[in-house]
Amino acid sequence: MKTQHIPITSEAGEYDRKKAHYQADKVAKDYDSFRWSSSSRRWSNKRKLLAISKAIAFASSMGYAIHNAIDIPCGTGRIIPLLFSKNIQVTGSDLSHEMMQVARVKVRDSSLSNGFVRCDAEKLPFADCSFDSIFSIRFLFHLPADVRRRALKEMARISRRWVIVDYRHKYTMKYRLNRLKGKLGLANKQYNRVSTQDITEDFQKAGLQLVKIFPTFPLFSDKWVILAQKIK
Ligand SMILES: C[S@@+](CC[C@H](N)C(=O)[O-])C[C@H]1O[C@@H](n2cnc3c(N)ncnc32)[C@H](O)[C@@H]1O
Repeated sequence: MKTQHIPITSEAGEYDRKKAHYQADKVAKDYDSFRWSSSSRRWSNKRKLLAISKAIAFASSMGYAIHNAIDIPCGTGRIIPLLFSKNIQVTGSDLSHEMMQVARVKVRDSSLSNGFVRCDAEKLPFADCSFDSIFSIRFLFHLPADVRRRALKEMARISRRWVIVDYRHKYTMKYRLNRLKGKLGLANKQYNRVSTQDITEDFQKAGLQLVKIFPTFPLFSDKWVILAQKIK
């Protein structure tokens, strides 16, 4: 039987439970086959990777190309092959040793891998300005707001210029319907989504500035990949 992968929710207790969830061999080993099990999930992943590619190209067009980066949390290494294909040296990091073990196998033969560091995104063991860019995908929007802001601040601190993250925004019909159902007591689960103002505030508190939003799909998707830069 496949292991269930429930996303980290925005409540602190649930977040702690999910941190523990990913530190299990079975969860790590089953992660990729679960995550990419359907064609719609694979398609959504393709769109996400495309949006990340656009953010990398845009950063380069602004005169500061990304040569080295850290992926926090790297999980099973989902975006690392994409970063390698752009000739970016990558350090992988995650709280879960088990998830990184799966990622390690994927990067084994690449001279672009700078290895893996186990750490907590809230307290990163790297000096200020260590990397051209931080990549943080499928992570921040699952966190409680206070944790999210601490993690973003750490990412800004260790970046020389760029921070590339994804968020789930509230400008979709699906979100509005969910709110309405919530008010009528009909929703099983209330979505936690952010506005552009929320993101701008998060970034300001971390010492970052929003540069450009790359929607993973222009019309229906609630996912944005965002390029942010450090405020000098
Ligand atoms: C849904 S996975 C996303 C991983 C990857 N970025 C991706 O797109 O597939 C979430 C990951 O966050 C890691 N994680 C959770 N809390 C963390 C924390 N405080 N610091 C570092 N990693 C954390 C988990 O171990 C897990 O590997």
